[in-house]
Formats: sequence, structure tokens, C-alpha cells
Amino acid sequence: MKKINIAIDGHSSCGKSTIAKQLAKYFSYLYIDTGAMYRAVCLYCLQTKIILDGVIDKKRLLSELNQIEVSFQYNSDKNVSETYLNGMNVEQEIRGLWVSENVSKISKIKAVREKMVSIQKAIGQHRGVVMDGRDIGTVVFPDAELKLFITASLKERAHRRHAELQDVSLEDIIKNLEDRDLDDSTRTENPLKQAKDAIIIDNTKLSIDEQFKRILNYCEQAMK
Ligand code: DC
Repeated sequence: MKKINIAIDGHSSCGKSTIAKQLAKYFSYLYIDTGAMYRAVCLYCLQTKIILDGVIDKKRLLSELNQIEVSFQYNSDKNVSETYLNGMNVEQEIRGLWVSENVSKISKIKAVREKMVSIQKAIGQHRGVVMDGRDIGTVVFPDAELKLFITASLKERAHRRHAELQDVSLEDIIKNLEDRDLDDSTRTENPLKQAKDAIIIDNTKLSIDEQFKRILNYCEQAMK
């Protein structure tokens, strides 16, 4: 079977990483969570007060961008690849609310995107990568052999997220998802949009297992 790149895009909390991890494990491919890279840059900005009271000092960010090193290391105990910021494992910290509330300010900056996209392209040059994000099929791997655009209703995505974050109200989660959807799809730099040749998977009514089986078929066709 041919080694391919699999590009997975879609809205926040629609299960992109779940299917990406399943596919990477099944085919022994490398899984790259590109959202984690923008989160790590955001964490750097919060730690160094480049973002202060929700306001970003863009000039400072641009001057320090070459000091921000984001990488991944495979954790064989947990069987996952973890995100590192300047050599420190930040896998837990980047998932917190502090980062989630500020990350879209970072992911819309052109110079940040250019830096992340060039790292992502380099990772994919030998194929065998499953990458998820917002611009993978359109910008990072426009030549990916398989492009998936995952979607689910806002209500379903909010319920799934609520099950994970029980101390946050459903209303707050819906509001946060609506804001992030709007930010992701309306920003000037590489907005979230479906690649022309992407296959749309609406998983509102699909179980994780049903989705996996359906996508496995597409993978096997693309690998022929
Ligand atoms: O998928 P996530 O919530 O971890 O993404 C974090 C942020 O990064 C979110 O604002 C969307 C943005 N993002 C992006 O702009 N491009 C990507 N390829 C991946 C994520």
C-alpha cells in the first residue's frame, strides 16, 4: 500500500483528533495536532506577558518569534506524541482555559502561521502523516492524497465538550464554540474552509466506531 498524507480539517470540538489518532495508530503513521502548535506559541506569549490582560504586543511577538521553538516528542508509555515549547513538555498546560481563551489572537497572525506552516510542511515531506487543524487540506498539504472535512452540529459538539468539562456550563461552551467557529472561518490568514477535493464527514449521528470504519474505507482507496 502506498504511503500517503491524510489532512483532517474542521470546526472546534468535532472529533478531529479522535479520528486522527485512530488512523495514525492503525497505519503506524505520525500524528500531528497543529492546534497544539498555536497553543504552545500562545502559552509562550502568556508566560512572557506578550499577552497581557487579553491584549497582545504584536511588535514584541514578531521580534521574539525566532526564539519560540515548538516540537513534538513521542511518549512511548502513553503512546502519544507530546508538545514541547523550548524543550519543556507543555502538553497539559496548553489545554487549559487560559490558553483556549487567547489562542485565536495568536493563530490569526500571519508571521506565526508562516512559521508553523513551514514546520508542518517539512514534517509531511516523506508522507506517512495524519495532521489535523483548520488549513491542512488547503494550505499545508494541498497535495494530500486524502482530505477529510469533519463536521457535527453545534449542539452535539457542545454536549460532547460539556461531558469532558463538567464544571463549565453548557451555555458558556456553546458561546465559546460559536465565537471560535466565527474566528476560525472569518480571519484573513488561512481561514477554515473546506478544500474542494475534501470528503465531508458529518459525525453528528455517527458513533466513533462507525466513523472510523467509514473513513478507513476512504484511506484504503487512497492508498491503492
Ligand atoms: O484545534 P485547537 O482548538 O487546538 O486549535 C487551537 C487554535 O489554533 C484555534 O484558534 C484554531 C487555531 N488553529 C489554526 O488556526 N490552524 C490550525 N491548523 C490549527 C489550529
